[in-house]
Parts: sequence; C-alpha cells; structure tokens
Amino acid sequence: MGGWWTGPTGSANREKWATFDPLPQEDRHGQDHYRALRDQILDHAQLRTGDRVLDVGAGRGLLALAARRSAGVGGLVVALDLSHGALRVCRERAASEEPATPFQAVVGDATHLPFAPGTFDVIVMRSVLLYLPNRELAVQELHRVLRPGGRVSAFEPIWRHHAGPNEYESWVEVVDMTPFQPNHDRIVAHLGRHPPDDNADRVVARAFDERDLVRSFVAAGFRAVDLDYRYRYTADVADDPLVRVKQVQDAPGYAAAARAVLGEPAAAAYLGRLTAARSAAPFPSATTQAFLVARR
Ligand SMILES: C[S@@+](CC[C@H](N)C(=O)[O-])C[C@H]1O[C@@H](n2cnc3c(N)ncnc32)[C@H](O)[C@@H]1O
Repeated sequence: MGGWWTGPTGSANREKWATFDPLPQEDRHGQDHYRALRDQILDHAQLRTGDRVLDVGAGRGLLALAARRSAGVGGLVVALDLSHGALRVCRERAASEEPATPFQAVVGDATHLPFAPGTFDVIVMRSVLLYLPNRELAVQELHRVLRPGGRVSAFEPIWRHHAGPNEYESWVEVVDMTPFQPNHDRIVAHLGRHPPDDNADRVVARAFDERDLVRSFVAAGFRAVDLDYRYRYTADVADDPLVRVKQVQDAPGYAAAARAVLGEPAAAAYLGRLTAARSAAPFPSATTQAFLVARR
C-alpha cells in the first residue's frame, strides 16, 4: 500500500480487504437482489445533475457506476476502496461505458479519506461500515468531506440479530444431516481447531447494529438522520425471489475445512450432495436491513 496511511485501524480487516481480489464468477451484481439495493440507495441519495458523488468502499462499482450514469454532465463520481483488485474491475467497467460524467477510482481508507473538506455533494455506501472496527472515525470523515447541506445515503445489513459465529449453523438445522453426520462432525471439529481466517471481520460485523449506525452519524454532527429499518422473514427462501438462495459452497470456511479433512475429489462430492439436500429442503431465512440518509 502507499504511504498515505498513518492512523490506527483494525489491522486484520484492513489487510484482508486491501488484498481482496474478486473473481469474476463471484460477481452477483447482476442479480435482482443487488439491483434492488442499488436502486434504493441511489433513490435515497436524490442525485442531481452536476453532483460530486463519492462511493466509499465502492468495490467493483455497484453504486459508483450507476451514479455515474445519473450524475449528469459536469458532475464527478469517485469510487474509493482499499482493494486494488476490486477497483481494477471498477475501472475496467467504467472504461467500457460512455457517460460524460468524469470518473475516478481511488485507493484509500474510509477512516482517512484523501480529500479536502467539503469536496462532495453526496456520499453513497453499501455494506462497508459493518466491517469497520473504527467506524465512528469513518463517519467523521464522511462529515468532513461533505459540503454543508450535503447528504449520505448508506445501506448496511444488520447481522447481529441473525448470523451465528459459524456459517454452517444457518443450514444445518433444516437439512436432514443423518447421511452427512460422520463427515460433518469431522469438518466441524477441524473448524474448531482452525477457525476461518475471516473471523475478525465477522466478529466486528456481528457486534454492530442499527443503533450503532445512528449513534455514529449523530455523534459526527450530521443535522438530520433518517433510518429506514426493514426486517423480512420467509419460511422458505424459494418463495422469495429477493432473498439469495445461499449454496453450501458459499460457506468458504466450511468448504475449505471439507477439502482439508476429506481431500479434493471426496470433498467436492460431499459438498455437492449437501447442496442438493439443502436445495430440496424448505429453507427459512430472516434478514434485517438498514437504509440511512443523513444530511450535513
Ligand atoms: C461488501 S463489499 C461492498 C462493495 C460495494 N460497496 C458494493 O456494493 O458492491 C465491502 C467493501 O468495503 C471495502 N472496504 C473495507 N474496509 C475498507 C476501508 N477501511 N476503507 C475503504 N474500503 C474498505 C472492501 O474492500 C470492499 O470492497
């Protein structure tokens, strides 16, 4: 990384995201779920022609590229992220589009934004603050780089009410595990000895909820803060096109542990059978989402 960073941050998370290099096949941005979130966040942002827009933790540009299409001639869209890899994808996508709005992709840290005070009219964010151990600092930075009267439209999923410490817990209760039990027990024992390396991230995210979100914006000095809080339960995700049907392979720690315990071909067969069993079972799901709009 460059020499611009001098302050404290959550080191485990920061290293993980800085080296995050997304695989094309992992990109789900075309799915209805992500398009719906994107459109709601940008709708709340009420972009106007000429706005200077910052997307913090922009990743591959879900929000930034759509904002660019609507920010109009004369505006500016900046995508900022810790990850060179994600921003590379974002830049490639921006280059393949032809809107007139100037676009920049900047490697940087949300808790130490490399911009002068009052640079932006609007800031948009999706699923970033939940990962930051020092998110109060990030929200102070949002306040600093917004002009007076500028606004933030942010979306954060709230995991505290749902996610357990182990990614397999959400499905192990709904699948008949009898045929899988001996291998599953060995995999769980392996996970106990070798916790997945994204644990620091998940621990931080699970400790965060909508009250922390609101508090951090009020404490940073925003003059108006609106929270749109949504809870959604469905007895079977198959009934709900907006809820992503997670596959067992989406549990990377579990899948890696299966490979370590069973070896490569046996693990693939095991995970395949488990996925099939899971897809056949009704799968209850609950999500909590926080949409926040704040005015400086
Ligand atoms: C779940 S992804 C969301 C990406 C994007 N906002 C989207 O909607 O697709 C979280 C993003 O936050 C970025 N991130 C994490 N910590 C960050 C930090 N301290 N400063 C800037 N970006 C950060 C990660 O690199 C990652 O791209």
